[in-house]
Amino acid sequence: MASYLITGSARGIGFGIVSLLASLPASQVGKVFATSRQNNSSKLQELIQQHPDRVQFVQLDVTDKDSVKRAAAEVERALDGKPLDILVNNAGFMPWASGGIVDANDLAETFDMNVVSVHNVTRAFLPILAKGETKKVFNISTSLGSIAHADKYTHLLVPSYKITKAALNMLTKQYALEFVDAGFTFVVISPGWLQTDMGGESADLTVETGVKATLDIMHSKTKEDTGKFFNIKVAGWENKEGPNQYDGTELPW
Ligand SMILES: NC(=O)c1ccc[n+]([C@@H]2O[C@H](COP(=O)([O-])OP(=O)(O)OC[C@H]3O[C@@H](n4cnc5c(N)ncnc54)[C@H](OP(=O)(O)O)[C@@H]3O)[C@@H](O)[C@H]2O)c1
Ligand SMILES: *[C@@H]1O[C@H](CO)[C@@H](O)[C@H](O)[C@H]1NC(C)=O
Ligand SMILES: *[C@@H]1O[C@H](CO)[C@@H](O)[C@H](O)[C@H]1NC(C)=O
Ligand SMILES: *[C@@H]1O[C@H](CO)[C@@H](O)[C@H](O)[C@H]1NC(C)=O
Ligand SMILES: *[C@@H]1O[C@H](CO)[C@@H](O)[C@H](O)[C@H]1NC(C)=O
Repeated sequence: MASYLITGSARGIGFGIVSLLASLPASQVGKVFATSRQNNSSKLQELIQQHPDRVQFVQLDVTDKDSVKRAAAEVERALDGKPLDILVNNAGFMPWASGGIVDANDLAETFDMNVVSVHNVTRAFLPILAKGETKKVFNISTSLGSIAHADKYTHLLVPSYKITKAALNMLTKQYALEFVDAGFTFVVISPGWLQTDMGGESADLTVETGVKATLDIMHSKTKEDTGKFFNIKVAGWENKEGPNQYDGTELPW
């Protein structure tokens, strides 16, 4: 009966994670805090109406420190002394730079969104996570943040995204090292190239397939895996041609 909080859950992968969690048995999933900047997603509102005891909307703009503070207080009240078990930092931003690296004008803004705000959200929820035994934090990163694999993705002109996701990976490592004795698990997941607004229609996998594989990682990784960067595993995609394989192994930094 783990409790979850997901950032950016109005659409895309975040919404997919909340929908899948809503459908799992009560023996596995307790409260799910579905957070988003605005309470205006009809898909999410519909899901909340279907699962009013499980899914709760909390307003959270990850780049706004007052919003982060309010959300943490609201979640703490709603849990009434119980811990938050699993935090999923999913909200992310991928600006295109048609002229390549020299044209990356939004590096600072992207860094705030993909790195600083994840740091701010994580530390705001740390005390509520620390009350429990599970204490898991997952960051949704991407294989595009892998420096070792950077030469495979030169065709994708998203330099700020690649740079900030590489920094997110290092940030995760720092938290993992610092909180290992406190029993936390900090893991970074590459959810695959999925058909969302960000991924586009020609992406490799449906949101359902990627989210299912992402949850498999969340549920199987333990303290021994803290500080690692995992790829999803999808049957038939382990040895696919092209830049993307989904074999469930650790990705190189
Ligand atoms: N799709 C892919 O192929 C793919 C591949 C690898 C990694 N990822 C990662 O997966 C995560 C989700 O991607 P996606 O494909 O679902 O993207 P998406 O469809 O573009 O959705 C982005 C999400 O981030 C939220 N968001 C943006 N700014 C925010 C803010 N300031 N505060 C709170 N939420 C904010 C959006 O909320 P609003 O609805 O309020 O705008 C939305 O829910 C990202 O971290 C992305 O880097 C995606
Ligand atoms: C979100 O919006 C729905 C529909 O307008 C409303 O029923 C619900 O109370 C709102 N929830 C929050 C927390 O604002
Ligand atoms: C919700 O409101 C935001 C900000 O006003 C807007 O950008 C977004 O498109 C709206 N989403 C929906 C599903 O109406
Ligand atoms: C992160 O938190 C600091 C300290 O509260 C704040 O000054 C900053 O604006 C926050 N940044 C983001 C991007 O949320
Ligand atoms: C994710 O990265 C943020 C900083 O960007 C950090 O606060 C958090 O501990 C990391 N957690 C995981 C699971 O990667």
